[in-house]
Amino acid sequence: MPSLFFIGACLVTTKALENAFSIATEFKVTFLTAKAGAISHSLSKIPIYRGRSEAEIPFRGAAGSINWLYLGNKGMVTAEGLLKKFTTAKTLPHIAIRLTKLISDENTTMRDFDKMIKMDPTLVLRILRVANSPYYGLRQKVNSISRAVVIIGINNLRNMIVTEALKDIFKESESKDTFSRNRLWLHCAAVSICSQMIMERIFCQNGENVFLCGILHDIGMIVEDQTAHDLFTQVCKAYNNSRKITDYEKEIIGTDHCEIGYLLAKDWLLPVEVQEGIQLHHNMIEDVSPLSITGVIQMAEYIVSQLDYTPISGMNALLSLPLASHIRENIKEYKTIVRDLPDEMSKAKDLYSPHEE
Ligand SMILES: [Fe+2]
Repeated sequence: MPSLFFIGACLVTTKALENAFSIATEFKVTFLTAKAGAISHSLSKIPIYRGRSEAEIPFRGAAGSINWLYLGNKGMVTAEGLLKKFTTAKTLPHIAIRLTKLISDENTTMRDFDKMIKMDPTLVLRILRVANSPYYGLRQKVNSISRAVVIIGINNLRNMIVTEALKDIFKESESKDTFSRNRLWLHCAAVSICSQMIMERIFCQNGENVFLCGILHDIGMIVEDQTAHDLFTQVCKAYNNSRKITDYEKEIIGTDHCEIGYLLAKDWLLPVEVQEGIQLHHNMIEDVSPLSITGVIQMAEYIVSQLDYTPISGMNALLSLPLASHIRENIKEYKTIVRDLPDEMSKAKDLYSPHEE
């Protein structure tokens, strides 16, 4: 049995690689008979490939253009390799990184936050706008930054800055044939808001980290869309709910959006539980706690999919067994969350709606 599985896996992997590197028959033949590193080395001697590193090899895109894939040491496409190509948001804005560092430093005072925020006039305006938005439902208008920060809270402020940065990253790419970044963005916004509602209403705990995890959990798909567009399009076309999306990604691309997102979150020094939630959100875990970030994100994914906020049209959300039992046991409360979610989303619109041009 294990050997059959191994042969099956080899066949699938070979097929996926063959698709990826189908630039021309002779290259295909070379690729299938030699090590990828060696091909890359010989390709770099051909004029159009000159200047490319030996860790890159080409494949022909759907429109006939040549795309480049970064390979790991073993000649396979890796999450790290794709991230090297991901230039749109290699780093979060400086201010988000500094804010994350300030939050994790016990000695930080309110004045430190105040000083940092005031250095960025756009952020000041944004904070005041959010503090005065219907989401916080204040009767009196807030004009001071310190008060706005107290109202919003430091972790929410970090979430706001990250969300702000992500809006640009999720801006629609030109082709929307099988995958829409707008649709994915709405899905992430719905998951983040729903996760926060679950954490606060069901578990009476602070929902700021689950919000952050929710807004970021599928960012790996954006990386794939940007750096391995044709392969990612193949994933979206092949996906039909019979298996997890990550299975298709691993077969066709060589990695998946959970691994890529996890590495990005690690790179951005986000809290460890947020990194884990991103990495595990598609894993079916036998003993997952409903109170863990992974548990809350999976339940939120399940709830928002019932309201059709899915990343890809018709996509089913899977639920680990303990989470399904937990929802059944608290069905009344979860029904209230489903009822209130559209309203909560419209209250938070200022946070996730696109910039006015
Ligand atoms: Fe996902």
